[in-house]
Amino acid sequence: MKKHWNMETDIPWDRFDRSLVDDDTVKVIKAAALTEYNAPHYTVYLRNIFHADDQFQAISYQWADEEVQHGLALGRWSEMADPGYDFQAAFKKFTSAYVIPVDKEKSIRGTLQGELLARCLVETGTSSMYSAIADSVEEPVLKLLCRKIAADEFRHYKLFYTYMQQVPEAEKASLLGRIRVAVGRLREVDDDELAIAFHCANEADQPYDLARCNKAYSSRAFSYYRRYHVERAIGMIFKAVGLKPHSWMAKLASNYAQGVMKDRVAA
Ligand SMILES: [Fe+2]
Ligand SMILES: [Fe+2]
Repeated sequence: MKKHWNMETDIPWDRFDRSLVDDDTVKVIKAAALTEYNAPHYTVYLRNIFHADDQFQAISYQWADEEVQHGLALGRWSEMADPGYDFQAAFKKFTSAYVIPVDKEKSIRGTLQGELLARCLVETGTSSMYSAIADSVEEPVLKLLCRKIAADEFRHYKLFYTYMQQVPEAEKASLLGRIRVAVGRLREVDDDELAIAFHCANEADQPYDLARCNKAYSSRAFSYYRRYHVERAIGMIFKAVGLKPHSWMAKLASNYAQGVMKDRVAA
């Protein structure tokens, strides 16, 4: 299957406008580019987990191709915004500091449904973040790029969500199990991956520190979110877990998430 857009032909790189670039956005985009570009590594893990499923193997290659393009395109934009920046050098630093354990034969989420649910949550996070950045920044190349990436991330969510409905009975999780997976994956937002990416992309002069780098990343990344981005993301999470996306519980969760994000931005 072909990618939905091509970074060489569908992005008007010559419209880049340096006067509309802000430093905080450059920092966030540099970190995001590193994690996107690292996706093929994660497909090794996914292909191990779904070793008996040819259809999913094919899907995972297409997915990884699109994530790599996100990384390359955001990396190119980062180098245009900061001409002294070397995306590939930062990526090398990132992959030696952050190693994903891929040699698993069973999903760390317990079941294939749990694994696909965790993927849905990651795609919820990326689709909402690129939508929020696209709605917030003025620089025209980044704005368009983030719109195109967000569209891919929404499609990825749909892909994993659809596949989740087809897993065999023995690979399904109970509602409680699904809630546990969702809460666990949401907590991982504070793990090393994004914090190390932020460090490798932006800090040459100080040692890595999880708490400091996590704060530096999330205070910037969450600043783009508006109420409707959070509400949509919570709806997508509820739907993936198997709960009603338009319910009082979803509203409560959305208000809570907005409060947490506001605190992070202000911290
Ligand atoms: Fe992506
Ligand atoms: Fe994605």
